[in-house]
Amino acid sequence: MLELNNINAYYGESHILRNVSFTVEPGEVACLMGRNGVGKTTTLKAITGLLAVRSGKIMFDGSDVTKLSTDRRARRGLAYVPQGREIIPHLTVRENLQLGFWARPATAGSAVEKDAFDEVYQLFPKLTQILDRPGGVLSGGEQQQLAIGRALLSNPKLLLLDEPTEGIQPSIVDHIEDVIIRFKNSRRFAILLVEQGLHFAARLAEKYVVMAKGAVVAAGKSDELNAEMVRQHLTV
Ligand SMILES: Nc1ncnc2c1ncn2[C@@H]1O[C@H](COP(=O)(O)OP(=O)(O)OP(=O)(O)O)[C@@H](O)[C@H]1O
Ligand SMILES: [Mg+2]
Repeated sequence: MLELNNINAYYGESHILRNVSFTVEPGEVACLMGRNGVGKTTTLKAITGLLAVRSGKIMFDGSDVTKLSTDRRARRGLAYVPQGREIIPHLTVRENLQLGFWARPATAGSAVEKDAFDEVYQLFPKLTQILDRPGGVLSGGEQQQLAIGRALLSNPKLLLLDEPTEGIQPSIVDHIEDVIIRFKNSRRFAILLVEQGLHFAARLAEKYVVMAKGAVVAAGKSDELNAEMVRQHLTV
């Protein structure tokens, strides 16, 4: 479903991603891990096309998307919830959600639209109470629920989530974890999750990919994550 093949990417002249290769299978939940600054967010930006890669190949859903614009990748089913959530501050919650729906490939009928919004409201009931509030005034937890809801409305094939629990109160972290588990059980789409918390990754993901200094240093099944690797490459 997603295949990164020897990706090299730069910010200016700084070589950030070094021969990054890994795959995510359809319906799989994979966790990208590693300490601060190793290149996790940069990897997601390369996948979405926000950062052009200098060499290597990105295959998504059977075709080469390496040269495709971010917008075209989104329309093919790539949804991205960035680390800073990036809610549009002057648009209301409802309008922010609408943007997600408009990113869908084909123009769907109004029945489809209602069902899609109902699903989001069912997953995140809090949103129904704040639909007319501007995105910019929401708490971090509310913004994260909105960002995930918006991504879901685009009907993704692959959902990229960058540290969805960072800086969020524990009750909402638990809620987001439950929602990700529901997504995983439904197998409707694959998820590539960036998380530093070992517990979270081990509980949610089937596969892990560990990065250090811009390169993949380990990858495997989550239940094989071992103490030595954690000591070397991860913050506990
Ligand atoms: N826009 C930018 N211009 C130049 N360098 C950047 C830019 N964004 C990130 N970097 C650098 O690229 C490296 C990788 O950053 P990245 O944000 O991908 O790390 P990360 O693994 O997501 O870290 P964190 O866990 O803190 O989110 C870091 O050294 C960072 O300073
Ligand atoms: Mg990051």
